Amino acid sequence: DKAGFKHFMAKEIAEQPSVLADTLNHYIKDGQITDLGIDFNQVARLSMVACGTASYATLVAKYWFEQLAGLPVDIDVASEFRYREPPIPAGTVALFVSQSGETADTLAALRYCTGKADKIVSVINVPESSIARESDVALPIIAGAEIGVASTKAFTCQLVTLALLALTAAHQRGKISDAELASHLTDLRGMPGLVNQALAIEEDSKRIAAKLAEARDILFLGRGRMFPLALEGALKLKEISYIHAEAYASGELKHGPIALVDKTVPVIVMAPHDELFDKSVSNMQEVMARGGKVLLITDARGIAEAGDGAWRTLHMPEVAPLFAPILYAIPAQLLAYHTALAKGTDVDQPRNLAKSVTVE
Ligand code: F6R
Repeated sequence: DKAGFKHFMAKEIAEQPSVLADTLNHYIKDGQITDLGIDFNQVARLSMVACGTASYATLVAKYWFEQLAGLPVDIDVASEFRYREPPIPAGTVALFVSQSGETADTLAALRYCTGKADKIVSVINVPESSIARESDVALPIIAGAEIGVASTKAFTCQLVTLALLALTAAHQRGKISDAELASHLTDLRGMPGLVNQALAIEEDSKRIAAKLAEARDILFLGRGRMFPLALEGALKLKEISYIHAEAYASGELKHGPIALVDKTVPVIVMAPHDELFDKSVSNMQEVMARGGKVLLITDARGIAEAGDGAWRTLHMPEVAPLFAPILYAIPAQLLAYHTALAKGTDVDQPRNLAKSVTVE
């Protein structure tokens, strides 16, 4: 049931304020994160494995686990991990992220770690799935059924669940105080409201998407925690609009991809006004100096400082920089959705794609 929406994808994008609140309510009781079943003082290393959009959630979480908890983290896509036969040293917790819980490569990677890792943890949407059943600890993301082939609400709910896990690790390991934990939880609690505000960029996204639909190639750039969002924006766009899109860490631009930039290539820069903003501005200027058309996605401060000269801007709400990746999923989704609508492609059933990839 599309509940009056044109596509499941549109419905699932719009549902995010409410399902994110469900995820937070599931894991936060009386102002505290519930026991997630892992003692992070016993953990020497976290190894996270997933595919596609779920793997971008692990890539964001790597920044959180490293910066907040000081925990060494390895990440890999499941299809590479499973055949590489990586050593699993003592003290490793292996964590698998999967919406369906049935992705063949992710399941095979989990089975490879069974008996080798100290603990098998999964972050899943389907509690009765194979990946959930074969885990020591299965953490549900409470996103509700996701029908659209392009993952949207599952991604943001995965991020919130992983953020709570990283905060738990940081607090247990004495890296953040009770007061710091409480302040991070307040920020996360504000996320459903901010996502709701961010959905107001839909009309602007639609106008920009009408232009993006004419492009053959589109580049996405992001730094730090925003790099995985650039990857997610490019994947979403490719999947449903069939436009060639690539994402780079902004600092990599001058190491090759800048050769692609000319006036026909929109370059989408995802850059909240955070500690790396100035660096992103320099990268934007490099693009503009070569005639590239920059779409800058940022907040009011970012627009005031760097909006001039950009081809277009998308005005996002202010957000705690640590959790900005959750909020910036919204423009990634809306731009892809409206570009696909402008091109007339099948949004919910894109060609060649299946919702659950149960073959290798
Ligand atoms: C992208 C998308 C895919 C999935 C990937 C993993 O929009 O939906 O990239 O994220 O196939 O699927 P799950 O999470 O079910 O393991």
